[in-house]
Amino acid sequence: MADTILQMRGISKAFPGVMALENVDLTVTRGEIHALIGENGAGKSTLMKVLSGIYPYGAYGGDILMDGQTRAFRDISDSEAAGIAIIHQELALIPQLSIAENIFLGNERTRRGGVLDWGRTIGEAKHLLDRVGLAEDPTTPVSALGVGHRQLVEIVKALSKDVRLLILDEPTSALNERDSANLLRLLRELNDQGITSILISHKLNEIIQVADAITILRDGRTIETLRPSEGEITEDRIIRGMVGRDLDQRYPEREPDIGEVRFEVRDWTVDHPTQAERRVVDGAGLQVRRGEIVGIAGLMGAGRTEFAMSLFGRSYGRYVSGTLHKDGHRVQLNGVDDAIAAGIAYVPEDRKEQGLILDTDLRRNITLAGLDRVSRRGVINPAREVVAAEELHEQMRVKSRDILQTAGDLSGGNQQKIVLAKWMFTDPELLILDEPTRGIDVGAKYEIYLIIQRLVAQGKSVLFISSELPELLGMCDRVYAMCEGRITGELDREHATQESLMKLMTLTNA
Ligand SMILES: Nc1ncnc2c1ncn2[C@@H]1O[C@H](COP(=O)(O)OP(=O)(O)OP(=O)(O)O)[C@@H](O)[C@H]1O
Ligand SMILES: [Mg+2]
Repeated sequence: MADTILQMRGISKAFPGVMALENVDLTVTRGEIHALIGENGAGKSTLMKVLSGIYPYGAYGGDILMDGQTRAFRDISDSEAAGIAIIHQELALIPQLSIAENIFLGNERTRRGGVLDWGRTIGEAKHLLDRVGLAEDPTTPVSALGVGHRQLVEIVKALSKDVRLLILDEPTSALNERDSANLLRLLRELNDQGITSILISHKLNEIIQVADAITILRDGRTIETLRPSEGEITEDRIIRGMVGRDLDQRYPEREPDIGEVRFEVRDWTVDHPTQAERRVVDGAGLQVRRGEIVGIAGLMGAGRTEFAMSLFGRSYGRYVSGTLHKDGHRVQLNGVDDAIAAGIAYVPEDRKEQGLILDTDLRRNITLAGLDRVSRRGVINPAREVVAAEELHEQMRVKSRDILQTAGDLSGGNQQKIVLAKWMFTDPELLILDEPTRGIDVGAKYEIYLIIQRLVAQGKSVLFISSELPELLGMCDRVYAMCEGRITGELDREHATQESLMKLMTLTNA
């Protein structure tokens, strides 16, 4: 077994009340892309945290062997020294620092005497950024980057170390199709250069495209390892392994019942909060009807999130102009409270920064945006709060011990469900969803689609931002496309295809 780089044997890891891993085996061959998949909460991230020393030797059961030798990593620097680099599901960059500083954080490029060698730092950063095709100045603060570009910086950071085994925990969940494709190509290139990788992803099409081996976890146990070289592997085959049964459709059936125009936005223009003269949204307009699911398609940087956030009580941008009309009447929203009062909810794409209070329990995270619904004269009624939170927790099928668990302890996908639950709780008339199924497994996606459909069946309206075109096509009654801050077109269900949308999404102002 000379070509086995990594063997994890009989790994077990318990948290209070949860057996996250139970006797898990994982064998990775040198030079391959090994996919690790499973439903939300299956134990993927936990297994990788065990591997990288975040859960140190002694805090788990079983053995880790690298190159046939037993290893006992006490912390992440131990595993780094062994050539392992992990890119976490939740990004961990420091927004105030520049790209270059983030890349070499803890690994600074210095001159003799320990003084930071700024020239070398910038030069090497530039080189690495080129390698992943990210055209940003290394001195740009990370805070100025969108979540997708931040992901690329994370990858660059890993590359800057002498990595032999690269672990990527959902690296493409924040990226659109084109950037994902670039990233996967990059992974292939790295593999050709001898870097082995373990890839966690919920995007099964990508897995099939790049993986040499696929290990499936379910409920903390290894189910199987599939190898495409030993026979064709379909998405349905993988899903069967993940959920233990067949899933015959991806999008639930629905008979749309669409009414009159509920919300209308006219000539919406937003300037960048810090960069003067940078227009992020430019004269955008749209309508959403009662009972309608309206999509917004666009490439990274098209301005979709900025548009949505600025609509949500001007929570983004300087000099927001344009008008918002509800039932034909103009409404002025000067803050998030106004927006909530007007029946608008926004589920953000970045749950860590904008969605959840990670050190607080699920109950309060769920009720937070609508506390008045469980309060009387400003005093929370604890029993009502628990009942309300329980109900959504149940509806969303969140995998956690109970609603008193801390949000930060949940798996990534389950955190996303809590963010959704939080905004559902405000019982909005217009729900704006920004990449709601990012990082969500196929089964749970279906449940989220059902919830969205239930909402519109009640006469509510949904604005659905997604980078996954099949999802927009599968769910929306109408889709607007954005490019460079402008709405470049609109297609109804009958006319929308990946190609027609792509054309509009790349219709630059020539
Ligand atoms: N620090 C923690 N404390 C308590 N429970 C935890 C902790 N970390 C993870 N868990 C639990 O362990 C289980 C596995 O979580 P893990 O994050 O490994 O899932 P995952 O497969 O990565 O899921 P996802 O696809 O949603 O990211 C879940 O039930 C989760 O709630
Ligand atoms: Mg995870």
